[in-house]
Amino acid sequence: MTTPKIIHTVSELRAAIADWRGGGARIGLVPTMGALHDGHLSLIQAIGKYADRIVVSIFVNPAQFAPHEDFDSYPRNLDGDCAKLAGTDAGIVFAPTVREMYPDGFATRLLVGGPAEGLESDHRPHFFGGVATIVSKLLIAAMPDAAMFGEKDYQQLLVIRRMVTDLALPIAIPGGAIMREADGLAMSSRNAYLSQSERAIAGQLNVVLKTAIARLKAGDAIGAVEAQARDALLKAGFANVDYVAVRDAQTLAKIDDLSKPARILAAAKVGTTRLIDNMAV
Ligand code: PAJ
Repeated sequence: MTTPKIIHTVSELRAAIADWRGGGARIGLVPTMGALHDGHLSLIQAIGKYADRIVVSIFVNPAQFAPHEDFDSYPRNLDGDCAKLAGTDAGIVFAPTVREMYPDGFATRLLVGGPAEGLESDHRPHFFGGVATIVSKLLIAAMPDAAMFGEKDYQQLLVIRRMVTDLALPIAIPGGAIMREADGLAMSSRNAYLSQSERAIAGQLNVVLKTAIARLKAGDAIGAVEAQARDALLKAGFANVDYVAVRDAQTLAKIDDLSKPARILAAAKVGTTRLIDNMAV
């Protein structure tokens, strides 16, 4: 356990990491947007297998929010986050300003395909380009041995793995298991937006996915299970169901049967809060 050092600029981050590297340490990076919860903390613990020194980045990335989304209201609490990190093995908190990551005149954006196509991109077309741009900047700034991402954002994890392979970055990208509340709701910084009645509805998302998996295992057709799950979410009180989809677990391609590992993924709104979840089939 250490009290992490807070760093705000890329050049100071590079210098601090160079120091660590001079001592022979393997470096781990856990990128976050802050409002830290036990899901984030589980990644910091899990990356200990790959790294001796750990950097946690906290940056609410404007490039991955559309103008109508929650960039302005996204929860920000650097002091609270640092207090939580004081109980972990994080040695550095990298908390840059928007100007530091996107200096005046910034005009570069990564274009990602493959696993980025469909699902989230059908509803948030700006999203993975923004994620890939900031994650590549963070990876290039820190040049860690490993960077860890949660399976909570399963499509994001696959997009980043693809990007790191395509850019030939020598960085391992392990995935961390989804941390859940007692009723199975996947932990998320956005759960803070939920009213009490919305919170009760939100708890049904994981239940519907589990039921869908049971039906798939009992032999029901994929299309029928997806449709049933969508109906079940609407009945449970979700306002909108963006998708419930059973996909190839490696590529997210559409599949007709379960001959290869599959993943069920869903995105739905409770009130105005958009929730995502996924599970291995
Ligand atoms: P954020 O939503 O803060 O999540 C940071 C990391 O924590 C992601 O890898 C995410 O998958 C993981 N995570 C979130 N909830 C989790 C849970 N319940 N269990 C396990 N892991 C969980 O994802 C982002 O930020 C951003 O897109 C980012 C990658 C930082 C780029 O801006």
